[in-house]
Amino acid sequence: MSHRQHTSTHGASVQQPVQVDTARLYRNGVGSEGIDAHALETLAPELARIHRTVIENTRGGLDAEFACLNLHSGMPESLPAIDAMAQALRRFPEVAVIGIGGSSLGAKAVYQALTAGAFDSDRPSLHFLENIDPYHLEALLRRHRPESVGVICISKSGGTIETAVQYLILRDWLEKNLGKQKAREHQWIITDPAHGWLRDLATRESLPALPVPPKVGGRYSVLTAVGLLPLAAAGIDIRALLAGAAANAARCASDDPRANPALEMAALFYLLDMKKNKRLSIMMPYVGPLQSFGDWYSQLWAESLGKHMEAQTDRRHAGTQPVRAMGTVDQHSQLQMYLESRLDKIFSFLALDAWEYDQSIALPAEDHRYFPYLADKRMSDVVEAEFQATRQVITDTGHPNMTLRLPALNAHALGQLIDLYQRTTVYTGLLYGINPLDQPAVEKGKKLAIQHLSGGVFT
Ligand code: PA5
Repeated sequence: MSHRQHTSTHGASVQQPVQVDTARLYRNGVGSEGIDAHALETLAPELARIHRTVIENTRGGLDAEFACLNLHSGMPESLPAIDAMAQALRRFPEVAVIGIGGSSLGAKAVYQALTAGAFDSDRPSLHFLENIDPYHLEALLRRHRPESVGVICISKSGGTIETAVQYLILRDWLEKNLGKQKAREHQWIITDPAHGWLRDLATRESLPALPVPPKVGGRYSVLTAVGLLPLAAAGIDIRALLAGAAANAARCASDDPRANPALEMAALFYLLDMKKNKRLSIMMPYVGPLQSFGDWYSQLWAESLGKHMEAQTDRRHAGTQPVRAMGTVDQHSQLQMYLESRLDKIFSFLALDAWEYDQSIALPAEDHRYFPYLADKRMSDVVEAEFQATRQVITDTGHPNMTLRLPALNAHALGQLIDLYQRTTVYTGLLYGINPLDQPAVEKGKKLAIQHLSGGVFT
């Protein structure tokens, strides 16, 4: 039987902190593969230095170097404009969100997390057109009538090829079916305030457009219009999302890692890489709707930290490779590798306290002897048991691991998680001595694809 457990977990009503449990990243919690508390103390002056760097570079609101850590305070003044556009978008039952990488993954993660229980919603369904895939696009075009589809095209640079191509095709479809003038009423743009093809197009055709703050890079932009407009259109409480980010920012004010979870996580992940040769960082949610959060984390971590370390002589490469996993399915797929292969991994589990939707397990009396432990249990009890069991064997194997426990699956908790990971990523980059905000290798790939389309032949 299906049950709605709580009535108020969506929105701002539950505002408890996400529990950050790092005990099993330490030697005391996991054994010799963990970090000695003493090593963290030795790193204290360096941690104080990078914390100061973050403070200095977040002065100046959305113009600051690390503007991405100021969005909780910088974005509220843009909310009326976002609300107005979201309201206009809600007349469409389907909204195609075109964008890739940082222009898609954040909104997709939050949308998946917070609409998993929205069965009776009269809000638009979001369709993320991210990867270029003629089959996927064809399915969208065949399934929906042009009258019912609104389009948000998102690109910070305003010219990423995958985004441009999908937008051009959708525009053409709208224009052919509705006429040029009517088609314009179906389109919204999010891009750089001044430059690029999309900005020119928006100006030329008077399309409604919102800016991406120039100092905020794609993968750090979910709390700008990039994430907030599609999420607001889908009925998600974007104020609660920003309030959650603000709550986490306040929680990370200290330069003492014992009182600043982002600084502690950065220090431990850095030390586990440098001192314990941990090369893989596996995120394993035990909450189905958080699967896409692993994709967002993966991009943030990889693109920010996978860099050459110019300053260090003994190590040339920074960063641990992010890996996405999922509880419980990967117990039946990856766990064998986790338990008997190399000790080169760090695990981050995501767990949930209050399940808004849950089912009681109907166990007939005659089957009781097969599953005596299921009597009076709910589905969430089984998820929790599987999580506890996996974490125990991972710990017993000697893998350092941490757990983030959400009080509820709501916008406030997601906002906390987003700020926590963005902040941790920036601190970690500074510890490695690299720039966590740029992505030179991604730009290289974009340029080569354009060369190929222009007739360039590669070996
Ligand atoms: O994080 C990044 O900077 C990238 O992943 C970009 O978000 C991605 O390449 C898309 O770029 P744009 O938003 O300019 O289209």
